[in-house]
Amino acid sequence: MSGTVYLFDAYGTLLDVHSAVARHKGAIGPQAERLSELWRSKQLEYTWVRSLMGAYQDFECLTQQALDYAASRCGGINAQTRADLLNAYQTLSAYRDAAPCLSALRQAGGRTGILSNGTRHMLQKAIEAAGLSKLFDAVISVDELRLYKTSPLVYEQARSLFDVPAGQVIFVSSNRWDVAGASRFGFQAHWINRAGLADEYADCPPKGVHKTLDGLLNGLRSA
Ligand code: 2OP
Repeated sequence: MSGTVYLFDAYGTLLDVHSAVARHKGAIGPQAERLSELWRSKQLEYTWVRSLMGAYQDFECLTQQALDYAASRCGGINAQTRADLLNAYQTLSAYRDAAPCLSALRQAGGRTGILSNGTRHMLQKAIEAAGLSKLFDAVISVDELRLYKTSPLVYEQARSLFDVPAGQVIFVSSNRWDVAGASRFGFQAHWINRAGLADEYADCPPKGVHKTLDGLLNGLRSA
């Protein structure tokens, strides 16, 4: 593991995107879970549509727009709950296996980074709140490129920053579409499939599939 570059997706991989709604589900009511799913899927849809249109807006902005749309489909939320949810999104909970996995990779001599659609401000705030800020050599946001994943330019931005061949980067994401983009780019892309979802993007396969970040660590150790 010494010298190897490990690049992590943030939202859904290290940070639990559903933890914002979970904290305020009482104020949302019975549609809380549906709202959280819709919020996430619309947020992602907006990234792809905006990249294709060449009409970038940052991830913080898209996160707000997606929440407003999801809320309108789920019976509405009041202004206080909207503010609470957006605040909670800035300080999402980390998965319990995130810090131990990052620490172990670094202790073994690996270099670690985040490559995320989130803005630099969002990412710094989130990793600080989650107690992860000392565990990265680099936190890379797509915001400078004004393009979202899965543009190859985004993966190239991270590769060139670490100055290693793409094939030497171990990329980790819970988003299968992100794994597809990273695999197509040439990274060794590992899929964290916490929910046991069916595989897709057959022509852009993951290098490994793991249920958790603990599983990733075990897999890498035994490789
Ligand atoms: C990311 O962190 C959105 O999960 C995606 O880039």
